[in-house]
Amino acid sequence: MQPEGPTTVETAVIVAIDGPSGTGKSSTSKAVAAKLGLRYLDTGAQYRAITWWMLANGVDVEDPHAVATAAGKPAIVSGTDPNAPTITVDGQDASGPIRTQEVTSRVSAVSAVPEVRTLITELQRTIAAEAAGGIVVEGRDIGTTVLPDADIKIFLTASAEARAARRSGELKGKEATDLAATKEALIKRDAADSGRKTSPLAKADDAVEVDTTELTLDQVIECVVTLVEEKRAAK
Ligand code: DC
Repeated sequence: MQPEGPTTVETAVIVAIDGPSGTGKSSTSKAVAAKLGLRYLDTGAQYRAITWWMLANGVDVEDPHAVATAAGKPAIVSGTDPNAPTITVDGQDASGPIRTQEVTSRVSAVSAVPEVRTLITELQRTIAAEAAGGIVVEGRDIGTTVLPDADIKIFLTASAEARAARRSGELKGKEATDLAATKEALIKRDAADSGRKTSPLAKADDAVEVDTTELTLDQVIECVVTLVEEKRAAK
């Protein structure tokens, strides 16, 4: 139930954070939500979760018809506490398996299927509408398609070199590849995400672009917190 009172009205704010991978989107979004007492939604995790389910259930992810037919079957549930976000598929914790290289290399194909996007977009809008105190939603098409009326839209960018270096640092053990291979995979995924027909990765016209190449994570967080606070104060 939605709490009543002027404080809630004053603080409820919807923040859309978009951009390609390796720009610090997830770390920034989580930290901004935690600092400002907002909920947090990682929409990439939802696309990863549906991809993981398809792979685990023998769906040919390169076949858009097969993906479209199966899209409604898994139940994906996202926990929106920025300090402990969760994701389950049919009640099973999916937070580990969705980060494997196999899922990462297949997620662009699955997320390009319009039926998948329609279902996941509906899920995202419901979660945002239920976040009474406000929410930070991060992804690729949040400002353009999912929440075009968001109170503030941020588009994070960074050079391909900086993004590859950050992604490389996140990969562990056997999955760690060399920098050149990481950069190549990242550019390929960005091209697929930007080039797809249905709601591609794109900056909304009214989004504030923040280039994170030369910034530390703390600087990016501070910059976004300031932008949100200014918007909140003006509401
Ligand atoms: O943010 P991420 O790397 O975990 O996202 C995984 C993939 O999900 C990304 O390559 C494209 C897709 N995605 C999308 O199509 N739309 C979103 N709003 C978020 C992610």
